[in-house]
Amino acid sequence: MRENRYAYFDAFGAPEEVLQVGKGEMRMPAAGEVCVRMLAAPINPADINYVQGVYGEVPELPATRVGLEGCGVVHASAAEGFAAGDMVILLNTVGAWSRFLTAPAASFLRLEERLDPMQAAMLKVNPLTALRVLEDYTPLQEGDWLVMNAANSGVGQCLIQLARERGLHTICVVRQAETRRAALQALGADIVADEEEPDMVRRVLATPGVKRPRLAANCVGGESALRLMDMLAPGGTMVTFGSMSRKSIKVPNSWLIFKDISLRGLWCTKWLQQTPAPTVAAAYHSLAKLVAAGKLQQRVAAVYGPDALPEACRQARQEGRNGKIILRFGE
Ligand SMILES: NC(=O)c1ccc[n+]([C@@H]2O[C@H](COP(=O)([O-])OP(=O)(O)OC[C@H]3O[C@@H](n4cnc5c(N)ncnc54)[C@H](OP(=O)(O)O)[C@@H]3O)[C@@H](O)[C@H]2O)c1
Repeated sequence: MRENRYAYFDAFGAPEEVLQVGKGEMRMPAAGEVCVRMLAAPINPADINYVQGVYGEVPELPATRVGLEGCGVVHASAAEGFAAGDMVILLNTVGAWSRFLTAPAASFLRLEERLDPMQAAMLKVNPLTALRVLEDYTPLQEGDWLVMNAANSGVGQCLIQLARERGLHTICVVRQAETRRAALQALGADIVADEEEPDMVRRVLATPGVKRPRLAANCVGGESALRLMDMLAPGGTMVTFGSMSRKSIKVPNSWLIFKDISLRGLWCTKWLQQTPAPTVAAAYHSLAKLVAAGKLQQRVAAVYGPDALPEACRQARQEGRNGKIILRFGE
């Protein structure tokens, strides 16, 4: 038997304080199950909220599975459609922060191509979020504009690249625009604007060639969301999928009455639960192809093993971090 190592917690709180690393034996798969040796898993804001007990899904304690996304290779399979050596991502289960994960086959999606493990580990959440934002809320045509905040985030990076693939233009609002501009433009950003700049909305809209966007992607809330709504074209839609500022959205009545803007919300977990498996697989295979072609990448800031879990969590929560913190529990 090979030794397993896995993150767990028995009280909600700051991840660097409550997370522990347990040891046990790897479990061979029962009928219908797959045992995966995990290669990499990011620390996402959702993971932090999960450990704090404030995510949309609150686990029972002790929670012996942590990590909402990640990738690995099949170590042993007792399920149809999976063979040893296949590269998979987690789909319908938690537990990416472990060395081995044994679970029903439906918990995993087999990738058709072998991807860089770092990028495969980040395929489930942010690329899908960006895809849903672009496809599910308002019809967009080549040449249309969209605006997003926290454009330097993982989702933001994906949105910029998927928008470029579709011939859409992006207004990317970030903190510290001067330090972010070159990297975001390299991904395809058209305009990189600073959250803090007074009169930013007016200046951006006055830029030659820029049109008021029909879609806004909000993952910050508060004043930042207000600036996105201000930019929206009449009849435009703002999709909220994150609340990095933890501040509520206040909407001026006139923007509802005279601009008729729509406010919508997105939670990918719900989309994954409600969508037929072949549609889910097709979405991921199309995203994986873009990753394989180098057209959809998310930056990695640092990689840590299980012994450095508290430090990794601390860094993941630091402002100004330039990319994802990745965990590697496997050897
Ligand atoms: N609803 C869903 O299904 C879904 C799916 C995926 C992600 N999300 C959410 O989307 C958000 C982004 O996730 P991610 O993985 O892309 O994040 P990430 O890569 O960890 O980046 C977080 C970003 O948030 C920015 N930020 C943090 N606090 C901020 C504030 N007060 N004002 C403005 N910007 C702030 C950071 O800006 P700096 O670069 O300046 O530090 C950074 O760019 C999170 O809220 C996450 O929970 C939701």
